[in-house]
Amino acid sequence: MKILVINGPNINMLGIREPDIYGKNDYNSLLKLLRDTSQALDVEIEHFQSNHEGEIVDQIQAAYGQSDAIVINPAAYTHTSIAILDALKAVALPAVEVHISDVDNRESFRQISYAGLACEKTIKGLGIEGYRLAIQYLYEKYA
Ligand code: DQA
Repeated sequence: MKILVINGPNINMLGIREPDIYGKNDYNSLLKLLRDTSQALDVEIEHFQSNHEGEIVDQIQAAYGQSDAIVINPAAYTHTSIAILDALKAVALPAVEVHISDVDNRESFRQISYAGLACEKTIKGLGIEGYRLAIQYLYEKYA
């Protein structure tokens, strides 16, 4: 099974950005978690991070016919991007949305998730562990 993990803007700043909200684990810890999860489950994991909306759309489109499922944290684009929602709908791959922080208990503008409308599950508020749970969920359901 091949899973594409997509992270949006500022996720590369993990560990530096607002550690009280996003935790002290840095971006390399997230990459290590993905490698460890890949080995533990025998799943192929491809990872992509971008600060640019269009690049994320391109990457979702490129997953069509290449990946079996998508894990996505669109970061701030969660709350604004209909283009990412449309791309997820276009490829129609099983997708899980991850948020490191508990977006439900933050500002009101974070309560809307467009991307989430095309995802079958959302995991939030569990730090980087949420990515492992998302991959595990997709593996158990679709591998
Ligand atoms: C986030 C939550 C978003 O509201 C925010 O813009 C992010 C990260 C999270 O993982 O908690 O950049 O997606």
